[in-house]
Amino acid sequence: MPSDYLWNNSNTDAPSAQLMAFLAGTDIEWDQHLMAYDIEGTLAHVFGLHHIGILDDAEYEAMSAALKQLHHNWKIGEFKLDQRYEDSHSAIEAYLQEQLGSLGQKVHTGRSRNDQVLTALRLYMRAQLQQIQQLSATVAEHSLDLAATEIKTAMPGHTHLQKAMPTTVGIWLAGFAEAMVDDLGLLNYIEQHLNSSPLGSAAGFGVPLPLARTEVASYMDFERVQVNPVYVQNSRGKFELLLLQSLHQIMLNIQRLCWDISVFSTQEFGYLRLAADFSTGSSIMPNKSNPDVIELMRGSMSIITADITQLQSLLALPSGYQRDLQLTKGPVIRSSRLLIQILQLLPGVLSALQFDRHRMQEAITTEMMLTDAAIQAAQSQSNFRQAYQQAKETGESSVSWQQSLDNRVSLGGAANPGLDLIRQRLAVTGSEMKKSIP
Ligand code: ARG
Repeated sequence: MPSDYLWNNSNTDAPSAQLMAFLAGTDIEWDQHLMAYDIEGTLAHVFGLHHIGILDDAEYEAMSAALKQLHHNWKIGEFKLDQRYEDSHSAIEAYLQEQLGSLGQKVHTGRSRNDQVLTALRLYMRAQLQQIQQLSATVAEHSLDLAATEIKTAMPGHTHLQKAMPTTVGIWLAGFAEAMVDDLGLLNYIEQHLNSSPLGSAAGFGVPLPLARTEVASYMDFERVQVNPVYVQNSRGKFELLLLQSLHQIMLNIQRLCWDISVFSTQEFGYLRLAADFSTGSSIMPNKSNPDVIELMRGSMSIITADITQLQSLLALPSGYQRDLQLTKGPVIRSSRLLIQILQLLPGVLSALQFDRHRMQEAITTEMMLTDAAIQAAQSQSNFRQAYQQAKETGESSVSWQQSLDNRVSLGGAANPGLDLIRQRLAVTGSEMKKSIP
C-alpha cells in the first residue's frame, strides 16, 4: 500500500504505524505552537515564488488567500492539527491541495522541510522573545516603582544569611530591577542575532532557482538573510540554545528574588507576608498559608536548566540536517512559555508583598552598625584596621540605623540609590526593543 506522506516514493511501502508513531513522536503536539508561524513562513515562500515568476498573479492570489483562510480556520479551531498529519508542514500542503487541487502541489517548489521548519521556529522564537522583552520591561518598571515607594523602609541586610548591615527594601528591590534591565539589553542583542531569515537554504545546499531570498526575508520582517545554507542548518538548535541561555539569566534573577521572599516571609524572619490571594493553604494544617507560587517559580529553574542540557546534548552532531534536530522543539517551546507565564505573574506577586516595617526595624540590632563605628573612627582618629579592631572589642556603636542609612551617600547606597539612573537605562533598553509583530 503506498503511503501519502510528503516524501512518499511509490516504490516503497507505507511505513508501519508503529514506526511512524516513533518518527513523529510528540512533534505534532509541538507543531500546535508552530502552526501559525509555519503558515506565515509559507505565505512568505509563495510571495517569493511569485516574485520570480513561478506563480502567476492569479495563482499567487489564490495561494495566499487559501493560506490566510487556513490561518483563520486554525485560529477558530475549525482546522485541527492531528495525527492524520505527520507535521504542520504536511498539514499545510494537504490543505492547499484540497482547496486548490494541482496548484497546491506547487507550494513546495524550491523549499525543503528543513528550511521550512527552521523558518517557523525562527518566527516563533522571535515572537516569544519579543513578548519576553516586553514583559521583562514591565517587571523591571514595576520593581522600580515599588523600590521607589519602599526606598526608605529599613531592613536588615544579610551575608551568609547572617545579619550584616542595615539596608532598605527599596535597595533590595532595585537590585532585582537593575538585573532585569541589564538582561533586557541581553535580550535585545539576542533578538538581533536571531533576526535573520533561513528560508531559501532548502535542504542545506540551496536550489537551482534564482530565489528572492532578500525580498522574502523583508516580507517576514527579518533584518537580514542568513547566507550560507550549511550554517543555516547548523544554527538549528544553536539559536534555540542561545535563547534559552538568555532566559536562564532572567531566571537567575527570579530564582534569587523568590528565595529572598521565601526566607523573608518565614515566621523566623517575618519581614514580609504574601497577601492571601497569592498564598495557598494546607489540606491538613488549618494554620498554614504557604507561598507555593514563589516556590514553583523558583523550581521552574530546573525545567529551563534541563531544557538547556537537552539542547547541549543534542547538538553534538555533524554538519547539516539530522532528524535529531526535531527534538529541539520541546525545550524552546516549553521553556519560553514557562518564562512568559512567570513574568506575567510577577508584577502581581510583587504588589502582594506586605512589609512588616516594625519587625524589620526591630531586627536591626546594634552590632549591625559596628562597620559604621569602625569607619567613623577611622576617619577621625585612627586607621581602619585599628578602628575595626576597637569596634570589634567594644561591640559598641553610637551610630543609629537611620544614620547608617543616611551616611550611605555613594552611588547605589541607601542615601543615593540611583533609581533615576536605572530608570533611564530601562528607557534606553526599552526603546531599543523591537515592537511585537502580530
Ligand atoms: N519534523 C521535522 C523536524 O522538526 C521536519 C523536517 C523533516 N526533514 C527531514 N529531512 N526529514 O526536523
